[in-house]
Amino acid sequence: MPKAELHMHIEGSIEPELFLQLAERNAVQVPWSDVDTLRAAYDFRDLQSFLDLYYDGCRVLVHAQDFHDVTRAYLRRAHADGVIHAELFLGPQGHTSRGVAMATVLEGVWAAMREAQREDGLSSGLILLAQRHRSEAEAFELLEQAMPWAEHLLGFGLGGAEVGHPPSKFERFFAHCRSRGMRVVAHAGEEGPASYVREAVELLQVDRIDHGNACVDDEALLRQLAESRTPLTVCPLSNLRLNVSDSLDTHVLPRLLQAGLCVTLNSDDPSFFGGYINDNFLQCQQAYGWAPSQLVELARNSLDASFLPEPQRRAALARLDAFVARAPRQWSAA
Ligand code: HPA
Ligand code: ZN
Repeated sequence: MPKAELHMHIEGSIEPELFLQLAERNAVQVPWSDVDTLRAAYDFRDLQSFLDLYYDGCRVLVHAQDFHDVTRAYLRRAHADGVIHAELFLGPQGHTSRGVAMATVLEGVWAAMREAQREDGLSSGLILLAQRHRSEAEAFELLEQAMPWAEHLLGFGLGGAEVGHPPSKFERFFAHCRSRGMRVVAHAGEEGPASYVREAVELLQVDRIDHGNACVDDEALLRQLAESRTPLTVCPLSNLRLNVSDSLDTHVLPRLLQAGLCVTLNSDDPSFFGGYINDNFLQCQQAYGWAPSQLVELARNSLDASFLPEPQRRAALARLDAFVARAPRQWSAA
């Protein structure tokens, strides 16, 4: 089914096989000698225990070719899942802080994005994330370093360790990004409370919320998000792996849908969290007994919530409509 993926970290899509290849290619010492022991390390208590491994793993990304290879592999996999448009997250601070130049990172990623457009017709855009455990001054540095490529960026976001680093810490940075015509998003309400989601909306004035799970704890906020149709990029399998939720049975997703929010489904860090976008769709469908029309609504939301220019967004929605028109009848039943 044609759809967009709006919450996927490039660094979180390195499959173990490629990770070990890159480590060898760049002579980077890593504590895992084979795919099985590496995969066994993907056993996380919480967001921080994941981030520790994730940031350390970034060391295998050194040359533009490495960033290209990781990005191209994800886009190929996404294409196989029916993704026709992807908005990718990248955290340059995890690379520039190790001495890798911004140009190296961006040029590698963009080469892969252009290839995916040319070879698979998959469009994509890039959102740079500031790491929230770092200072707002460092976020401003990131913005300045990226400015030579501003016209090629969709916008900026906020990722990393959430608790203790509320959106309010980055209020001036976000105002500045917006004044430069950038789209803005923020991870909020993954491990943090509903008040962080509210801050992201009211102080940062985000175009979308990444995760957003905790908003269910604030009825007024839930209504506000539904009325403003502020999209949430929900990542169910990520939430299970990072113990944000015990199971899909107790996950907030059905409540978000019930409240009328513009929910999208995404994979977050697919190689670490046990599944790509269709795995997220399928496991939710099985857990919640969704009719096909529910899947179509989620796909429609993803295209609606994308930052595609209006003509392309309409064309993408028309592809979804054409898919539904060709599908068995129950796919279009309300
Ligand atoms: N949350 C915060 N930061 C992240 C995540 C996440 O799920 N994945 C990669 N960086
Ligand atoms: Zn994320």
